[in-house]
Amino acid sequence: MPLPFIGEILFNGVPSIPSSWTILKVVLAIVVVGLIKWLSTGASNTSERQMHGKIVMITGGTSGIGAATALGLAERGAQIVLLVHQSPKDIFLVDYIEDLRERSGNELIYAEQVDLSSLYSIRQFATKWIDNAPPRRLDMIILCGSTLTPPGKPRALTDEGIEETWMVNYLANFHLLSILSPAIRAQPPDRDIRIIFANCSSYMRSPPIKDGSEAMKKKEWSPSNSYARSKLALTIFGQAFQKHLDAYKRPDGLPMNARVIFVDPGYSRTPGMRRWLTRGTLWGLGLYIVMWQNAWLFLKSSEGGAQSFLYAAMEATLGRGAGGKMIKECQEVNYARTDVKDEKIAKALWENSEKLIEMVEREEAVKRALQKKEREELEKSQGSKQSVGTSSATESGPETKNSKSRKQKRGK
Ligand SMILES: NC(=O)c1ccc[n+]([C@@H]2O[C@H](COP(=O)([O-])OP(=O)(O)OC[C@H]3O[C@@H](n4cnc5c(N)ncnc54)[C@H](OP(=O)(O)O)[C@@H]3O)[C@@H](O)[C@H]2O)c1
Repeated sequence: MPLPFIGEILFNGVPSIPSSWTILKVVLAIVVVGLIKWLSTGASNTSERQMHGKIVMITGGTSGIGAATALGLAERGAQIVLLVHQSPKDIFLVDYIEDLRERSGNELIYAEQVDLSSLYSIRQFATKWIDNAPPRRLDMIILCGSTLTPPGKPRALTDEGIEETWMVNYLANFHLLSILSPAIRAQPPDRDIRIIFANCSSYMRSPPIKDGSEAMKKKEWSPSNSYARSKLALTIFGQAFQKHLDAYKRPDGLPMNARVIFVDPGYSRTPGMRRWLTRGTLWGLGLYIVMWQNAWLFLKSSEGGAQSFLYAAMEATLGRGAGGKMIKECQEVNYARTDVKDEKIAKALWENSEKLIEMVEREEAVKRALQKKEREELEKSQGSKQSVGTSSATESGPETKNSKSRKQKRGK
């Protein structure tokens, strides 16, 4: 059938076949759509590594790319510790974990409560983790948790007063890794430890960073700038964190075996991306549903976005040589900006972040102490009121029996 058809076109031309132009247009459209889809799907991970017994801590593992990465690693036998902002008793979380266990065939999936928008919550979790003696095994930390403000929405601050995007996307990772650093350095030298940061090509168009204080300025804020800036800061910090690990002299004199890896997953159809595209509005969501085929055509699936994370987690060559590499489409790529490796900026950013954390933590500790005092005073006053109430009740209460009998006695 195709041969006579092709022959007819070759010898008599396209118009000789009925509806030939329509057929040609349809075929052309299918080829173009297939090509776009093939290009947008991106590369697939082909690296495999034994993951049984490895302990992987992951932020953002409940949604989009992080969830697909968690599933991929759980299927390969890794023990997953999800850092989530809900309470581990949250029924949706319990359901999610049960589903993940069932789909991966792996029971070793747990959750720990860590709200990335709270320095206090991060400190509570991380200090509990490093307090363990001997140090707990830790093979990998995957930092996928993130937030963004949809275009047109106002600037938001966390309960501790820090600009939200800066806090969740950058400062939370800085704080978490700073506290966990001794636990990372205490791992045996033969353990291949990987700290994988979720990056985004938006870091390329971020305004330059001086010391990070810009992120807290209202004047310099816009949804896209704050997101891009948080990713640039994360990249600069990641490079500095690698140097911090490399500089550590182990008591046994052996080299440090922990490496930072950055992953740009490429644009993917995740809840986060949907929030951005729909501007966090209902009409935007309606438009997104109507035009869903565009998102399907031009964006990867969450599983597609997770491929470079799985590559970063399992590729053997990334466990050797220098750390701080950037992975995109399952291969190493160069950084698009030179300032990500600028030591002066990294130092200023590190120091400023430490200063901000110290200041906020001190203020919050004072607030908590005051609240505790107020609570105790309230409880005390309620307690004394109650005891006054009970004692007066003891006096007036037995009205029924004792006082009646007293009155009766007095009456006598
Ligand atoms: N999607 C893309 O096209 C794309 C492109 C380039 C880079 N990236 C990067 O890839 C990573 C994953 O992206 P995604 O689109 O899959 O993200 P997403 O769907 O928006 O998921 C974000 C995750 O972060 C968690 N999270 C947010 N705020 C938190 C908080 N305060 N405490 C604890 N967890 C919190 C969310 O938990 P809940 O669901 O419970 O709120 C969720 O699991 C991000 O770092 C993103 O910047 C994504």
